[in-house]
Amino acid sequence: MSKAAITGIHGYVPDYVLTNAELERMVDTNDEWITSRTGIKERHILKGEGMGSSHMGAKAVAGLLEKMNIKPEEVDLLICATTTPDYVFPCTANLICDMVGIRNVGSFDIQAACSGFLYALTVGSQFIETGKYKKVIVVGADKMSAIVDYTDRTTCVLFGDGAGAIMLQPSEDGFGVLDSIIKSDGSGQSHLFQKAGGSRYPPTHETVEKRWHYVYQDGPSVFKFAVKNMADVSAEIMERNHLAGSDVAWLVPHQANKRIIDATAHRMGIDTDKVMMNIHKYGNTTAATIPLCLFDYESRLKKGDNLVLAAFGGGFTWGAAYVKWAY
Ligand SMILES: CC(C)(COP(=O)(O)OP(=O)(O)OC[C@H]1O[C@@H](n2cnc3c(N)ncnc32)[C@H](O)[C@@H]1OP(=O)(O)O)[C@@H](O)C(=O)NCCC(=O)NCCS
Repeated sequence: MSKAAITGIHGYVPDYVLTNAELERMVDTNDEWITSRTGIKERHILKGEGMGSSHMGAKAVAGLLEKMNIKPEEVDLLICATTTPDYVFPCTANLICDMVGIRNVGSFDIQAACSGFLYALTVGSQFIETGKYKKVIVVGADKMSAIVDYTDRTTCVLFGDGAGAIMLQPSEDGFGVLDSIIKSDGSGQSHLFQKAGGSRYPPTHETVEKRWHYVYQDGPSVFKFAVKNMADVSAEIMERNHLAGSDVAWLVPHQANKRIIDATAHRMGIDTDKVMMNIHKYGNTTAATIPLCLFDYESRLKKGDNLVLAAFGGGFTWGAAYVKWAY
């Protein structure tokens, strides 16, 4: 059976940079607190009326196609992971396809909060492994600034906007997504969620007044869950693939909090210089963190490198993937 190799990667972040210094002027916070508790220094914010996650996703996908010299009509399927879709419907994947000229193929969204990219990678890989498709794009795109309450200091310092896209193609030589684990536990829903805007609480004056359209997070509960589950699932995927820490070239972790990443790396026996980290530049871009890491580190990756991708997020959702880098 073919494996789904990642054969290209591209990323996009909007121009506007929201620094810790600017946040200090917006809420009661300070650079020292944000840096020591999260590792974040700045994040990028998508400005402009009518701009949504699809606009960033389309930039990432268009850049990927150009870089790989692949025409839109060669693409067989596009999957978009997002928690901040442009609309309730149609899905963001449809919009991205339209923007970049991919037509008459399937496209759909996957919503698994911060684990969305890992979920989408797992789903996209199946279409390659079964032989059904030859070129599948997986894009993670989130405009978190659309659902972050910039009067709430406990959440507004954490998130940023961005997108990243990968191309999946068949490999017969053992490169690509060799294993993945996805998990969820919906009983964690109340610790991290956006209460209104869906079918339970459609928008009303009351939902707006109560600020239910913003991210609600019980930070310490999420922190405890994240540290345990991201480390557990990373250890599980290493164990069942007989990987020791020294076999892993890179840990590619979801970028939510530097302290959570450090704890995961420690549990896996991986040195910090083998951990991809760009949280200081972008904050938590939800479904875009992992592809943005791969994009930033692309020039340092070597064919055959063993990568462990790991994520956790609202739901709760979490997961890991074992990828042998293909180029
Ligand atoms: C959000 C998070 C950084 C908070 O760090 P923490 O060490 O747990 O801090 P606490 O929430 O316990 O808050 C400690 C104090 O700092 C304060 N504080 C919170 N945000 C602050 C900010 N931006 N600036 C300054 N002080 C802040 C709190 O009010 C609290 O003050 P108190 O002790 O007087 O009540 C941390 O819980 C976290 O990262 N959680 C996981 C978040 C995450 O990964 N979410 C995404 C999931 S995909």
